[in-house]
Amino acid sequence: MDPLDPPVLHPLLRERRSVREYDESHRLDDVELAALLEAARWAPSAGNSQPWAFLVGRRDDGAHRVFVPLLAPSVRRWAPAASALVFALHQVASGPEEDALVYSDYAAYDLGQAVAHLTVQAAALGLSTHQFAAFDHAGLAAACGVPPHWAVTTGIAVGRGVTSELAPRVRRPMAEVAYAGRFGAPVLPG
Ligand SMILES: Cc1cc2nc3c(=O)[nH]c(=O)nc-3n(C[C@H](O)[C@H](O)[C@H](O)COP(=O)(O)O)c2cc1C
Repeated sequence: MDPLDPPVLHPLLRERRSVREYDESHRLDDVELAALLEAARWAPSAGNSQPWAFLVGRRDDGAHRVFVPLLAPSVRRWAPAASALVFALHQVASGPEEDALVYSDYAAYDLGQAVAHLTVQAAALGLSTHQFAAFDHAGLAAACGVPPHWAVTTGIAVGRGVTSELAPRVRRPMAEVAYAGRFGAPVLPG
């Protein structure tokens, strides 16, 4: 059984892929942006700690102009054409303020889940996303005034994807990733 065949995976998941070509006529409006950020904001997190924050630049705005030179050349080739660049941050220590969020060991996990929800919401809006780690993390933190108890983790390009030339998606086999009680003993065939 091919898991990419219906009905195993929901179409929003089946069709999701990290595209590198974007329709530059598309602009991300406030309604779409709010939906993406709300999807992330309503994700579950350890103790409801919500240890995430986002920096957002839409193509041609001031934040976008700050972000683009900080992308690695490999990412700068395609990401600036997307309608928005979103940078995802998670807490790495408790803040100095009296009412500061307390650091949670699950902060990175929680941020990843919030971004996953954002990507699914994007798919539901007919938008594509491509996450990336290849950028100047320290430069971005400095340029955007990120406090030391926060880390800029990943960037996310969001836009209307052009999906004409796409390489096949590959994954490790199920038998290598899901086990029945004992590590290494497959729970499912294939
Ligand atoms: C944390 C993270 C970092 C990534 N960094 C990059 C990157 O720097 N450059 C890039 O082209 N893709 C990057 N990707 C995209 C992955 O290469 C992509 O998700 C993976 O190859 C699977 O392809 P798919 O998303 O189309 O299924 C990153 C993805 C994640 C989740």
